[in-house]
Amino acid sequence: MIQNPETHLNKLKRSATLAINERSDKLANEGKTIYRFGIGQSPFPIPDMVTKTLQGNAFRKNYLPVDGLFELRQSVAKYHQHTDTVAIEPEQVLIGPGSKELIFTLQLVLGGSTIIPTPCWVSYGPQGQILKRKTEFIQTNYADNWRLLPNQLTKTIKGVSGPHLLILNYPGNPDGLTYNQDELEKLANICRKNNVIILSDEIYGRLHHKGKHISIARFYPEGTIISSGLSKWCAAGGWRLGHFAFPKELKNIRNTMACIASETYSCVTTPVQYAAVKAYQDHTNMEEYLFHCRRILETIGYYCATTLATAKVKIQPPIGAFYLFPDFGPFKALLKRKNIHDSETLCEKLLQDSGVVLLPGSVFGRPKNELNARLAYVNFDGALALQNSRSLSKERKLTIDHLGDIVAEVKQGINHIITWLER
Ligand SMILES: Cc1ncc(COP(=O)(O)O)c(C=O)c1O
Repeated sequence: MIQNPETHLNKLKRSATLAINERSDKLANEGKTIYRFGIGQSPFPIPDMVTKTLQGNAFRKNYLPVDGLFELRQSVAKYHQHTDTVAIEPEQVLIGPGSKELIFTLQLVLGGSTIIPTPCWVSYGPQGQILKRKTEFIQTNYADNWRLLPNQLTKTIKGVSGPHLLILNYPGNPDGLTYNQDELEKLANICRKNNVIILSDEIYGRLHHKGKHISIARFYPEGTIISSGLSKWCAAGGWRLGHFAFPKELKNIRNTMACIASETYSCVTTPVQYAAVKAYQDHTNMEEYLFHCRRILETIGYYCATTLATAKVKIQPPIGAFYLFPDFGPFKALLKRKNIHDSETLCEKLLQDSGVVLLPGSVFGRPKNELNARLAYVNFDGALALQNSRSLSKERKLTIDHLGDIVAEVKQGINHIITWLER
């Protein structure tokens, strides 16, 4: 018997980031040299103490409370109190199997519409599509550093039926940029005035290259849900542990999400939750680890951005995370001769001709005919890079030369892009 999925689900594709990883593996297995700037995965090993704690707790076999292990919620709450200076109690925290699942459930629970500035993370939109949720994308601009401007937000709130959920992600995937305090305050004030709930996706917050991430919850604590987890800063994407911190005012939403969790995934893997407690409590080791991760990412990100900029690619130096969002618009005429008119063809041809994997801007919500793409500078050995950075005193500046051969593939990949563009 043949059965088809519901019509609105027929057009769904696999998430672009996961699909590109499978494609890169396939090409590499076929013997092609691949420069993997595709997948957004931390290159670093999980901190030793966290892995050891997971091993030590592997015997734990029972389900945990749906909301998450109390000790973990307590540690996450303390972390937010301390770093974001927002008053969060353990009762306001919800642990989930990755923040992706929590974001999906939030969009399921809320009425009204979602507002998303683009370029944006690949999954917000498709989640809305699965849920038949009204989604309004706001096109931000290169000239504004891809930031959502207050007037764009106000106009959108007026034009789209509420209640509204605004998803803000900073430091951002795919651009590696963030908001300053003034920008956050202005957006927070508009949201307060219009009763907009903010989902503040701060999964890269601890990977702000200078360790200076500011949460918008500081300026709008009663309407902001902070989203984060172990996937990026702790390099544990495959462990599937994310968390939301809700304002007290949104406790009904939190409770409904927990009810849904109880009928779907039940709880996050028990040993992983115990290991996560360690990750949030062992401040000294984690800060040491993060210092080096940040310094390495800053060095490599800056190298990639400046090398591309020197070759006339439009690009901003990154502030956090491990992404760049280059715009190849200045090469429009040359690309036209190669029959390239959009970001998808650009990435496909680049991959075929030179083995460089980038993800087209179109999957991040940008118009198809723009010539931008995401470059994830994570194709280096993170363990060796950590060793290298640790051998250099904290006071000294880590340069790309210090990293030597560790970044050979990154350098070659960037050079291949430039040669291909100029060919
Ligand atoms: C901006 C952003 N938000 C959320 C997620 C989801 O992360 P996880 O489900 O692993 O917590 C990702 C993962 O790539 C991301 O880049």
